[in-house]
Amino acid sequence: MQIEMFRLPKFLRRRMALVKPKRFPDQEAYAAFFDARARLLAGDDMDILEYPDRETQKHIFSRAISLAKLEGRTILDVGCGLGYLKGFLDEQGITYKSYLGVDLSKAMVRGAKERFGEFFAWRDVLSDPFPENSFDVVFLISVLGYPIGEDPEAYMKKLLTTLFRFTREAFVFTHLMPGRRDEPSDFTYPPEKLLEWCRTALSPHAKALVEDPPWVTYYVAVYKDPQTMPGGIEPGLI
Ligand SMILES: C[S@@+](CC[C@H](N)C(=O)[O-])C[C@H]1O[C@@H](n2cnc3c(N)ncnc32)[C@H](O)[C@@H]1O
Repeated sequence: MQIEMFRLPKFLRRRMALVKPKRFPDQEAYAAFFDARARLLAGDDMDILEYPDRETQKHIFSRAISLAKLEGRTILDVGCGLGYLKGFLDEQGITYKSYLGVDLSKAMVRGAKERFGEFFAWRDVLSDPFPENSFDVVFLISVLGYPIGEDPEAYMKKLLTTLFRFTREAFVFTHLMPGRRDEPSDFTYPPEKLLEWCRTALSPHAKALVEDPPWVTYYVAVYKDPQTMPGGIEPGLI
């Protein structure tokens, strides 16, 4: 069955990959979607990861990492996909202490190991969480944006609350800006509302970075302690 799928012409595989459900019943179904993309779109990593191109991915990474101090820090990258954040950090010469990428998709973890080495693991951090304060910095990049479960907002908040517990210093994540893209499967959330929720539910030390003009992606950073905020506040930070 699988072998037959690989025999399909490339244009047909690409077409199949464009079919997206309006919502995922649970996070396992969301991960299975990425398993399928990894097979259907093999050979085009940015397509698998749903980035228009590498430049966009690098732009998003550079904005996200600007929101945390990384030198000498331990880093957890949740929803690491094919591991490109690890490659980017190394390319930039950032002297972090350690990096671990985790993902719910086995195909993604396999792909990340092939590309960047043994720094990746399959793990469901909701059912098998890390202890509190296990990492200095936690990233969640380009993971939120699809409706998961019966109540996508509740799922998102549960995931954010869980990940914030793992961090000693900063938790940085991205989300989708409402009104910037017109895909029926998008789950967007207004940055001001999410920032307000973070400040109330997670920590008063939270910031959002919305670029001007707004991109599809915006960034939120939540800090355990204001001392851990990097200096040089960016324009666009609210
Ligand atoms: C669009 S990819 C982004 C990958 C990577 N962060 C990047 O920017 O290149 C989203 C990834 O998140 C993973 N994912 C979704 N929900 C997850 C969860 N709760 N825990 C771990 N990984 C998750 C998917 O399997 C997929 O590999």
